Amino acid sequence: MALPPLQIAIVGLGNVGTGVAKILTEHPERIRQRSGRSVEIRRAVVRDLSKPRDVKLNPGVLTNDLESVIHDPNVQVAVELMGGIHPAREVMLALLAAGKDVVTANKALLCEHGDEIFECAKKYGRTVCFEAAVAGGIPIIAAVGQSMAGNQILGIQAILNGTTNYILSEMLLRGQSYEEALGQAQELGYAEADPTLDVNGTDAAQKLGILAQLSFGCKVTAADFHVSGIDKLERTDIQYAKELGYTIKLLARVHLVGGRLEMSVRPTLIRVDRPLAQIHGPFNAILLDGDVVGPVSYSGRGAGQLPTASAVAADIIDLAIGRAQLTFACLDLWREKSPFELVPLHEATSRYFLRLTVEDRPNVLAEVTGVLGRHGISLATLIQPEAPEVDDASAVQRVPLIIMTHRTSAGSLAAAERELDQLAAVHSPRMVLAVAD
Ligand code: NAP
Ligand code: HSE
Repeated sequence: MALPPLQIAIVGLGNVGTGVAKILTEHPERIRQRSGRSVEIRRAVVRDLSKPRDVKLNPGVLTNDLESVIHDPNVQVAVELMGGIHPAREVMLALLAAGKDVVTANKALLCEHGDEIFECAKKYGRTVCFEAAVAGGIPIIAAVGQSMAGNQILGIQAILNGTTNYILSEMLLRGQSYEEALGQAQELGYAEADPTLDVNGTDAAQKLGILAQLSFGCKVTAADFHVSGIDKLERTDIQYAKELGYTIKLLARVHLVGGRLEMSVRPTLIRVDRPLAQIHGPFNAILLDGDVVGPVSYSGRGAGQLPTASAVAADIIDLAIGRAQLTFACLDLWREKSPFELVPLHEATSRYFLRLTVEDRPNVLAEVTGVLGRHGISLATLIQPEAPEVDDASAVQRVPLIIMTHRTSAGSLAAAERELDQLAAVHSPRMVLAVAD
């Protein structure tokens, strides 16, 4: 006997919500076949009923009355796509308490309040699906939560933000300015409602937090580890990196090192021949290392309406079949105490790229290298582009000095930077970027 249709509410019919509604309304037979039942959009909640919508829904479906949807007993699954923390947190808790399973793409909410939300789901016997919250259309939550469940994940290296990867690609490959590329990413629907979260690294950090929770059973928020974005980067850094044989990517990393977790999100130089250096545009990529399987890699569109909606649709189908409920009950999301501590930032080691602005006069190079040497920092490469000769011998020019270091600790580098600040010949701006192995 055929199951009755699954009735859902889409809470937020913006960029992603519209994509989900399109998939469900344009491919009902595909969805029915794969779910074993049809899926009906009973309600779609928005703030502003007068805004034009890019999808055709049945009369009476669109509403701005969130409360009536929360308390509608016929809604079995709510798809939260409003974004942000408030009121999304309160809405999600109310939906779970009202007996609905929830699908969400809201990484900000899950990273900050995942423990409360998962606990609430457990209390009411409900399920929360969040495939779309990390890396858009790439099925990484299923990969870590199910397909690699026989492994202890040892490390993750990833590009997790489509907006910043798009900006960096446009700047590198098409010579666009940062502002132009960011504007395009917003128009194309890749950016968050507040794009600061993309460019300052927060969005990638929230996604890494969710992956770390799933992989290592620890709650880590973006405030717990080093997070920096691409908002301070200059085109000249991208050019020097290219000259040295590297590409700059916003790299999210978490690795088990001696039983502790080293974790960061920061712009990082990656050798051009490495797989992650070849990921361009809104694509994301994730390299996982499992103790049984070894290295595994995924890539695909990490942002945008349909790629994200593709992941949401898969979660809805999984709930319709009843598969998501079984998986969710077994995910490693509720440990009281994390089995792994984080390595304090100053202890973490890396190679570094430094772009200093120095006076072009005798002994400056010796002063700078002297400081680095005193902190045990060994130099791998050094470039000082030639400044044009000037007639006035008393005029001191400022030139960039590019240094690539060998591996050192963040603590040693910070101490060296403090000492460099004391040198009269060293000026702003200064850029310090990590270099991947
Ligand atoms: P969006 O375009 O800003 O859409 C938000 C929708 O929620 C709009 O329809 C808005 O109504 C509605 N809404 C907001 N606050 C509301 C409230 N208080 N009551 C009722 N409705 C409310 O956002 P989006 O880009 O689709 O993103 C949605 C979620 O997906 C976010 O959590 C985001 O982080 C996540 N996500 C986005 C992408 C992407 O590529 N964009 C990828 C992965 C995950 P109005 O239309 O009336 O304003
Ligand atoms: N703003 C996000 C990004 C959307 O650019 O990656 C996908 O989560």
